[in-house]
Amino acid sequence: MIRVQRLVLLFCAYYCCVLDLVSPCIYKYGTSPDSLSVPRGGTHWSYGMHGDDWTGVDAAGKPWICLSGIRQSPINVPTPHSLEVRGNSLPRNLRTRWNYPTIYSNGSNVEVINNGHAIQVEWLSPYAADVEIVVPVRQSSSTSVTAVLGMQQGEQSTTVRATPTQFHFHTMSEHLIMGKHYPLELHIVHKITDLPACASGCYSVTGVLFELTDDGDNPLLDSVWAAMPMREGQINFMPAGAEIRLGEFLPPAKVREYVTYEGSLTTPPCTEGLLWHVMMHPQKISRAQWKKYKTAVSFKDCALKNASSTAGHGHHRHHHRRLLAEEEPAGNPEDYTCKVVTYDFNYRSAQQLYGRVIKVARVNQ
Ligand SMILES: *[C@@H]1O[C@H](CO)[C@@H](O)[C@H](O)[C@H]1NC(C)=O
Ligand SMILES: *[C@@H]1O[C@H](CO)[C@@H](O)[C@H](O)[C@H]1NC(C)=O
Ligand SMILES: [Zn+2]
Repeated sequence: MIRVQRLVLLFCAYYCCVLDLVSPCIYKYGTSPDSLSVPRGGTHWSYGMHGDDWTGVDAAGKPWICLSGIRQSPINVPTPHSLEVRGNSLPRNLRTRWNYPTIYSNGSNVEVINNGHAIQVEWLSPYAADVEIVVPVRQSSSTSVTAVLGMQQGEQSTTVRATPTQFHFHTMSEHLIMGKHYPLELHIVHKITDLPACASGCYSVTGVLFELTDDGDNPLLDSVWAAMPMREGQINFMPAGAEIRLGEFLPPAKVREYVTYEGSLTTPPCTEGLLWHVMMHPQKISRAQWKKYKTAVSFKDCALKNASSTAGHGHHRHHHRRLLAEEEPAGNPEDYTCKVVTYDFNYRSAQQLYGRVIKVARVNQ
């Protein structure tokens, strides 16, 4: 009984409807008591208000800047044409170059993670991907990874290398194009260390939007979707032989139109100073694929199981593992039974620009 009370206290700090354990209640994605993920310290957060309630502190006690920042992401992107008309075109020599080789799974080196905020893919083998971001030749300790936004065509330039560290998805899209949401957005997160100001790491994110199609599943999503853990906090290894053709999510270089601007992480602590790239050409996603993602981030109806009938449960440790398995929570998530009651979304609402410059790389220039 003591164990159950501790469990209730742990999970009910934010969502207290479960105090009456007999009647089930509905949990937002990231908060259900059967979640295998353990809060990492800092304020707990969810997409309940799409980010408009994100006040809190990180694990070190430092306040988030989600609501106070003035360079936040995502944003509503104007059309490339309107940016061009306003003189915000990026000349060819200042454009970012992407090189994403295929990611190969050997059965234990590529993880698909349901972290309670998104479905995220990480790899444990070295990945020789390369994104080259233009920076000025003359660098000072204050030259940032977003310097390209202020550079002129004739300016002497070089590049820094951004290394992808993970990718994940949001539904709906976080960026809007002319006020329009898309059903899904892919974020490929990169780290840059070879600038003086980036010694402890700067970030750049590439976003790819997806539009609905009735023409069947997008085969590029298949391998990740097949391994998608539907339970929060669960990690699945992609099977041996599976591959992710990450480069094919981007349009071919010849027709690659993108916008770039200075923004932030779209999750707490909402750190700023990131160089964003948003591809203007959407990928396709089928309704069935979209439905699976919306189910992975669904609202769930949870109730305490009859404890005596749940003794002796086990994990299938060979096929998947639990997020942060080294930290056992105060109670046992396996004592709960949860079922999906409705789809949900994991996107942050669009943020104000506050005069920021958005540049566009057009194909016809
Ligand atoms: C798979 O890759 C991981 C990480 O690079 C490595 O440690 C492991 O030995 C590999 N397994 C096989 C079966 O090749
Ligand atoms: C719980 O399980 C025990 C033993 O299996 C059973 O006798 C009891 O009726 C169950 N209670 C409920 C509420 O299902
Ligand atoms: Zn993201």
